[in-house]
Amino acid sequence: MRFRKAAGSALGVLLGLSIAYPAAGAEPVKIGLILPMSGPFAGYGQQIENGVRLYLKQNGDTFGGRKVELLVKDDTGVAPEVSKRVAQELVVGDRVDILAGFGLTPSAFAVAPIATEAKKPMVVLNAATSAVTTKSDYIVRTSMTLPQVTAPMASWAAKNGIHKVFTVVADYGPGHDAEAQFKKTFEAAGGEVVGEVRSPVKNPDFAPFLQKVKDTRPDAVFLFVPAGEQGVGFMKGFAERGLAKAGIRVIATGDLTAELVLDAIGEPALGVITSFHYAESHDSPENKAFTQAWYQAYAPSRPDFMAVAGYDGMHLIAEALKKTGGNTDGDKFIEAVKGMHWISPRGPISIDPATRDIVQTIYIRKVQNVGGKLQNVEFDKVPDFKDPGKS
Ligand code: PHB
Repeated sequence: MRFRKAAGSALGVLLGLSIAYPAAGAEPVKIGLILPMSGPFAGYGQQIENGVRLYLKQNGDTFGGRKVELLVKDDTGVAPEVSKRVAQELVVGDRVDILAGFGLTPSAFAVAPIATEAKKPMVVLNAATSAVTTKSDYIVRTSMTLPQVTAPMASWAAKNGIHKVFTVVADYGPGHDAEAQFKKTFEAAGGEVVGEVRSPVKNPDFAPFLQKVKDTRPDAVFLFVPAGEQGVGFMKGFAERGLAKAGIRVIATGDLTAELVLDAIGEPALGVITSFHYAESHDSPENKAFTQAWYQAYAPSRPDFMAVAGYDGMHLIAEALKKTGGNTDGDKFIEAVKGMHWISPRGPISIDPATRDIVQTIYIRKVQNVGGKLQNVEFDKVPDFKDPGKS
């Protein structure tokens, strides 16, 4: 692009023409969005793509003199080989400038080596295993990490009369992170983890795990499963098998009560305490504007944390392009995002220059009925919290 610009200018001088730069002759910045758009995790793709497009709708589509073009590819969910293939097609065939998306950790892990080899910026909009950003120097993340959203839950539990906890996590990267961080923080604060189980990533039935939890009689169960159907299944089983009646509480990362599925969980969600970085009900002018614009564009779909990660990811790309004057060179782009900070609909956020990961406020929330709608209502917070998984 830069060479072409220089050549164009020289030609212009030779021919006695004046050529206006940068916008007029600039090629679009192609962003390859790799997301689950079908299968059990299709809701992730929808939320993230809608978040990205909402940002463009509000802010225009030209930054640093270059128009942005989105190329959306479906990687179908937990299918790292598909993510890898579509990333290769995007880089080699479509010649994208930036890779973005990644609903699930295995997809981010699979594409990281491609970003490194092609020196393309890779903007992670969900995949939340702590180690994701260590897999390539070209990765930056605008979502969260599991240790980051788990530690505050463990601290809160230990301080609020919960002494014995049984942990249930999905058996892959983010679940392992959540399990380890919960135990570390909870036990350091004097609590005891009295049981641990890992459920398959696509778990059809929580009954055996729930029975084990019930038999152990902990004060609470701590849960991490990828947002969506699994959490709905867990909560349904929890209510049906009488765990709530036995006095066992549910604590979790906010993946469980993501607004996209909160209504599907329904009544059993009431009173569940979670820790997370985004709630639809977050009280700020930025979030009011975001949620209003969201409903105008996408009602009746509710915005959840993935929508905000997509919206913020597009903000990060836009600001980086402004800083580099439209240059998408991997090294220049990553330099531009280090230390970047802004007010997101979730609150103040920044990119840690050392890790390229997000620093943000983690809120403690309780599910309540607010005007006839189930909401995660924030009542406590830990500001400017870095991923403890990397320290
Ligand atoms: C992940 O695979 O990294 C992941 C998926 C869903 C979540 C959180 C993390 O809710």
